[in-house]
Amino acid sequence: MKPALFDQELVVVTGKGGVGKSVVAAALGTLLADDKRVLVLEVDPRENVHQLFGVPPSGGEFVELGPRLFLQNLKPGQVIDQLVEEKLKFKRLVKRVLESPIYRHFAESAPGLEEMAVLGHALRALRGVSPKAPRVDAVVLDAPATGHGVSLLAAPLLVGEVIQHGPIGGLTRQVSKLVADAGRSGIVVVTLAEEMPATEAIELRAMLAARLDRAPDLLVVNGLYPPTTGALGADRASRLWARRRQLNERELGRLRREWPEPSVELPLLPLDRGEELVAELTAALRQQLVDGKSG
Ligand SMILES: Nc1ncnc2c1ncn2[C@@H]1O[C@H](COP(=O)(O)OP(=O)(O)OP(=O)(O)O)[C@@H](O)[C@H]1O
Ligand SMILES: [Mg+2]
Repeated sequence: MKPALFDQELVVVTGKGGVGKSVVAAALGTLLADDKRVLVLEVDPRENVHQLFGVPPSGGEFVELGPRLFLQNLKPGQVIDQLVEEKLKFKRLVKRVLESPIYRHFAESAPGLEEMAVLGHALRALRGVSPKAPRVDAVVLDAPATGHGVSLLAAPLLVGEVIQHGPIGGLTRQVSKLVADAGRSGIVVVTLAEEMPATEAIELRAMLAARLDRAPDLLVVNGLYPPTTGALGADRASRLWARRRQLNERELGRLRREWPEPSVELPLLPLDRGEELVAELTAALRQQLVDGKSG
């Protein structure tokens, strides 16, 4: 059975730093774009997802990657400013608000506001209300490292407690509905089959349950060393490979025991970050999730 994420509007890809969130978000976005219009939304000032698709940096603009696939890099502060700009009609007033120290302080320190702005942006792309944005059926969000992934989803609760009225209050209510509805939004946790990342992934799962009463939709175990079948040489590289795979096996065993939700496994490929890597990982996801060989 296909996991729910094929029907969801928002898929948040999260996990510890460096485990392959961006690569998985790119591959998952590509896979989902088989059937519908998808925006891969990168929230990272370092902007690097474009490299995975072999296109120049977007600088905040939408980039069309294929017939149904789009990419955008977001700097959260920029989205809050955009929101203010849309709600205030007079150019000079907008400029004064955006430049005022009180506003800057508010925008930078209000808990959950940045995250809310990101989710609000995703929601608007889904609704097709941003004049410059393409309307999409699904947003794959390449979230910043673990803590942020959860705080991202917890943000509407946090902001909703303090701001109930006005344009932000309205947006918060809509975003809260989206995030609370497991039919409409999902969470993909990416990890490596190594001790620290696997432990963090299991903790993340518990945190999602405790703070949001949500279960992740999919676990992606990325970067697996290939099984060491056949004759391995006695050289150092082969011995290292065998040891790494053994370590992977141990952590895979632990993850299988502690992770009741669906999971998929992706191999460590001898490829640099780029289109070929994404294409191969997309094929691996398609095989396991669509052709039904899920682990
Ligand atoms: N399955 C894989 N095979 C080969 N290389 C991979 C694989 N997965 C990820 N990589 C490489 O590992 C590096 C980290 O991946 P990626 O940037 O997706 O991680 P990330 O979780 O998004 O990192 P960050 O937390 O810094 O945003 C990249 O150079 C990427 O090309
Ligand atoms: Mg990344």
